[in-house]
Formats: sequence, C-alpha cells, structure tokens
Amino acid sequence: MANQTKQHYTPISPLTIRPDFQGNFEIYLRHDNSYVLFNGQGRKLSRDKRQELLNNITKLYIATRDIELYRQYLTEHIRALLEDESIPLDDRTKAWTNTAIAMGRELFEKNLPGPAFANRYKRFESLLQNSSGFMQSPDSLRHLSQFMGKGYDTYHHGISTMVYTVNLLQEYRSGDYETLACGMGALLHDIGKTELPRDITAANPASLSPDDHAILALHPMLGVRACSYFNLPVIASNCILFHHERPDGKGYPTKATPDDLPLEVKAVALCNVYDNFTRTLPYRRAMAPFDALKRIMDTPGLAEPDMLKRLIKLLSRAKIV
Ligand SMILES: [Fe+2]
Repeated sequence: MANQTKQHYTPISPLTIRPDFQGNFEIYLRHDNSYVLFNGQGRKLSRDKRQELLNNITKLYIATRDIELYRQYLTEHIRALLEDESIPLDDRTKAWTNTAIAMGRELFEKNLPGPAFANRYKRFESLLQNSSGFMQSPDSLRHLSQFMGKGYDTYHHGISTMVYTVNLLQEYRSGDYETLACGMGALLHDIGKTELPRDITAANPASLSPDDHAILALHPMLGVRACSYFNLPVIASNCILFHHERPDGKGYPTKATPDDLPLEVKAVALCNVYDNFTRTLPYRRAMAPFDALKRIMDTPGLAEPDMLKRLIKLLSRAKIV
C-alpha cells in the first residue's frame, strides 16, 4: 500500500506577498474544504494577479512544510512592505502584527531545543531591525497599539512591550544597538513564564497563594536561563532579569533601586506595567490608556516621574491619549 502523507496548510495574509514574489513557496486558495494551488514554487506572481488577490482574498494558504521558507521570505521583505506607501498604513500595520505574532508564537514555544530557539531569536531580531524605523513613527504606533492590545498570551504582551520600549528609548535618543538589544529583552521579558504552570501564570495575581507568588516570582530568572544557550546581549538579559524592579525598591527579584539599573532596563519595566494595564486578560478588562497612565501616576513608587512624562508625551504625539 502506498505511503500517503496528509498535507497540512497554514493561513497567511495576502498582504505579505510582495509584487516581486518569485514563487519562493507554493500558494494555495481554499474552496470549501479543499485547497487549490494558486501559484507554484518557482513561478513569478504577476502584478495583476497579486492585485486581484489583494482585492478579493483575505486569506491565502501555504503548505505547512513550507513555513520556514515563508518566514525567511518575510524577514527579507518586511522592510520593503512597511515602506510601501501604496499599501494603506492600516494594512501594513496589520501585516507587521500578523508576522510578529506568528514569529513570537514560534519563539515562545514550550521546550524548544536550544539551536531552534537561537534560530528563531535571530529571525525575530532581524524582523525588529528591519522594522524599528517603521514602528517609531507616531502614526504607526497609533495603529500598532490598536492591533497589539489583543491577545492573552505571553508573546502578545512581549511584542507590545517591545514596541513601546523601542519608542520610549527613542525619546532618550538611545543608540541603535541598545534599542535593538532592549527591544529583544522587552520581547522576551516574560519568557520564563512558559516554564511555569499555566494555572499560576494566567491566574489573577490577587487569587494566588504566597507559595504560588513565590513560584511566579521565579520567572525573570527562568527567562534568563532560557536564553543562556546563545549570546543574548547583557543589556537584553538585564531587561529580562529586572523587569519587575520598581523605583521605590519594592520590586523583585533584587529590590533594586533606580540608581542600580540602567535607563533601558527601567524603560522595559515601565512599558511592561503600561501594557499589562491596557491589555484585556482572562480575569479583567483592559484599562483605557488615559486610565492606565493615571493609575501608574497615582501609585507611589511605580514609575520615575521623568520617564512617565516621556511615555505620556510619546503616547500623546501618537494620539493614543
Ligand atoms: Fe513579568
């Protein structure tokens, strides 16, 4: 009997297919429950055919076995896609968010072997490098904030914290290397949670026992350990380790004070709090940006006034508040 393997398919956004697409992988359309080959491997997709896709189709499919080829294609072309002003900003932002979420989901996969984790880290780093200019414009930030606020998972929160951090650091004219490294630290800041039981990490902190809190408090260290396989920049590692420290010295794991920590680490800590407050979680609704900022302002010791002022300025310029 012939050995037949069932083909699996993965949805992708038509927006991610560039006009210069050269058939890097096969593209399928879905009709009812069957998949029909639309563009074969190696075959160039004409501009007219691509436009027809964008006009009529919201989802394309690729064979799941080609997912690596697709990711590689995206990282190589994301800058061109983001800079293409013929595509509405809303669509470009959506394409970026979909790409970042797909790559974030892969990066945060539980029990990922070290080499696979290192590869996926490199790919996300390249995505950030190619898109940091785009995400640092007020218009993009406004659009991104609308898409990024959705999703319960650790990588949703990581991506969003990364975008706010990269923007906040721009307020300080932080160098490119520091911004990139801290962006990756912000992305990965909660990755240690993937090693803890979900009934602790996804629960309302107010409902946790002291023992559960002690377990949850391990996640910054577990995050650094998870990244120990490859050469994570020290500053990114510090962003992971110290993202729950507070200006009043009542944070964890070391009760560090502001003088102990560099600016970049404090930026991740503040953006982490802001994104947490403005994100709907299984046990509570999101706060509006203005309310979240007010809560941060009214909570003694949660934010340094100057940094909070810069975050407010940034969000105001992007018309988020
Ligand atoms: Fe955390």
